[in-house]
Amino acid sequence: MPDTRKILVTSALPYANGAIHLGHLVEYIQTDIWVRFQKMQGHDCTYVCADDAHGTPIMLRAQQEGIAPEALIARISQEHQADFKAFGVAFDNYHSTHSPENEAFVRDIYLKLRKNGHITQRTIKQAYDPVKEMFLPDRFIKGDCPRCGAKDQYGDSCEVCGATYSPTDLKNAVSALSGAKPIEKESEHYFFKLGDFEPMLREWLNPDITQTRHVQSEAANKLNEWFDAGLQDWDISRDAPYFGFEIPDAPGKYFYVWLDAPVGYMASFKSYCERTGINFDDYWRKDSKAELYHFIGKDILYFHALFWPAMLEGSGYRKPTAVYAHGFLTVNGQKMSKSRGTFITARTYLDHLNPEYLRYYYATKLNSSMEDIDLSLEDFVARVNSDLIGKYINIASRTAGFIHNRFSGKLTDKISPLGHKVTKQLELGADTIARFYEEREYSKAMREISRLADIANQYVDEMKPWELAKNPDAGHHLHEVCSVSLNLFRQLTCYLKPILPETAKKVESFLNIPPLNWHENIHLIPSDSIKKYEHLMTRIDPKQVESILVASKESGQVDQIPPTPPIPPLTKGGGEAGGFTPIMEIISIDDFAKIDLRIARIIKAEHVEGAEKLLKLTLDIGEEKPRTVFAGIKSAYQPADLEGKLTVMVANLAPRKMKFGLSEGMVLAAGPGGKDLWILEPHAGAQPGMRVK
Ligand code: MSP
Ligand code: ZN
Repeated sequence: MPDTRKILVTSALPYANGAIHLGHLVEYIQTDIWVRFQKMQGHDCTYVCADDAHGTPIMLRAQQEGIAPEALIARISQEHQADFKAFGVAFDNYHSTHSPENEAFVRDIYLKLRKNGHITQRTIKQAYDPVKEMFLPDRFIKGDCPRCGAKDQYGDSCEVCGATYSPTDLKNAVSALSGAKPIEKESEHYFFKLGDFEPMLREWLNPDITQTRHVQSEAANKLNEWFDAGLQDWDISRDAPYFGFEIPDAPGKYFYVWLDAPVGYMASFKSYCERTGINFDDYWRKDSKAELYHFIGKDILYFHALFWPAMLEGSGYRKPTAVYAHGFLTVNGQKMSKSRGTFITARTYLDHLNPEYLRYYYATKLNSSMEDIDLSLEDFVARVNSDLIGKYINIASRTAGFIHNRFSGKLTDKISPLGHKVTKQLELGADTIARFYEEREYSKAMREISRLADIANQYVDEMKPWELAKNPDAGHHLHEVCSVSLNLFRQLTCYLKPILPETAKKVESFLNIPPLNWHENIHLIPSDSIKKYEHLMTRIDPKQVESILVASKESGQVDQIPPTPPIPPLTKGGGEAGGFTPIMEIISIDDFAKIDLRIARIIKAEHVEGAEKLLKLTLDIGEEKPRTVFAGIKSAYQPADLEGKLTVMVANLAPRKMKFGLSEGMVLAAGPGGKDLWILEPHAGAQPGMRVK
């Protein structure tokens, strides 16, 4: 057994103003797998996290809800923790940056930095909202892009042409909070002199080849670019009103949220130490031998690999052993999107699917690089069903019953040479798999486990226990084959345990064995009684995934898709029909080809109570379930006249939650409006479900 390592691990602290979503979970699952693996190795590994509770957005959200920020962050913290728990993310401590521990550390670090000459002050000019009486962060200023003129752009960059600029360059700038025109106002700010740490940071990021790296080399390359640009002083203060900690000797000035956020790692660990009696300094003093790892997303690398080590160095603490950055989650190859229903919260997922499916899928995708990872929903279903269930779970479900029914639950340890041979083959994978886990190459670990599962399945397939069971003379052979198979299953469970902790727990209980851990995975199961096999997991029905997408589509919610610069309208319609104003916009033939037009039969047409323009249509388009569509054609049609008619619908329009219910598509109609509005009416030979070319 290797020496016991002392390891402290963190994941980035999620902001306390929103729900945990599948993007966040990439990180928490990645970290949790690593921590569980280290614990299984017998190492002394501690995993801490906290909510990142400060800053303007949180303050404003609390105002919007009419509650105190403390009440908001308390509620969100409960929600976050419940989500993490459900996904098996097992922190040893979960804290908050809005805590006495954090305030004490932040003050202490700041005062040390100041004493050591790393803090400076100067007056700067900033946009100020005269109505709200507060300085405006760039994101809260909107206006026209100075380059392309696009309207409604944020104060730092244009989503249409990609220009970056300062908020003072925006034309017709307004405060996103009050709509007032921002004024320029002076204020004194406090700065951290990052440049003081340049030599240390250069060396820390680029150690010579005899030393281990503190950040991935791709990350170091990115960060090195900052040196070329010259390290700027970092503005660490914000003016009141601000939800945060007040700066010592500076009334009305608060620490910027990103100053106290990483300190939250220390605060959470400190609260853990107080609870458990562990010595805080053993982990954080300058010459500590304990290992410290921060798992983060690539977007916050700059804070963790420049500011944070500099802050620690400047205040006399140790620096991280390593900062590990991962890439961003895409869903079906694209950024998560509310309108596509792929902005999926942890909660919505949990309402429909087993969290271990996602842990499993992420594990098959994760590696040690900063590349983005894609959750392809089709692939997700296929992998879970064919690999996780088909290859792994099936080994137990195909053999456990015989042990239970024929051998009163007892396994045999009289094993043939072939049985020993396959067992040995699976055993031999342990070191490789361990190395892959350690290196955060989970996808490689999964490939190795999958190869071993293939060996196990091949064994079962060749031994055919279901045929042995028919042969009265093959009793012992059946007993042996099923015992070996269940033991192979146990070995695979051990390898998968960091990924599937809940399943592993069920397997341990079913096999009646103590908790599996890495170094004891080498013996056959003793011939104790196992329990009756209960289903461990079921296949995913693609409909469950569909339900997640539908549930994730917010009513009327549109992503911040850059508005295409409008081409001057050629026709201006009355807009009566569907309540829209047709502005002619040129789209490509490719865009048009994406529209799935189908023949639909109107099975039912009804008035909608309270709706001026809408009829509720129930449409058969050859699918199992009819679709419901709300169509703005009430002025031109009587419901009774529509029933039984064929028409044409857009079948792949994102479902929209309307006041009256969910609309699952659109019926095409044209005309100036009022009575003069016509739906398409295909001739009677058309069949519901036919595609319109
Ligand atoms: N509060 C800061 C972190 C402070 S750490 C001292 C923050 N919070 S966050 O809620 O926006 O993000 C938390 C973590 O989740 C970050 O590491 C971030 O990179 C990660 N992710 C957020 N969205 C993500 C994806 N779509 N994909 C992968 N990771 C993502 O940043
Ligand atoms: Zn622009």
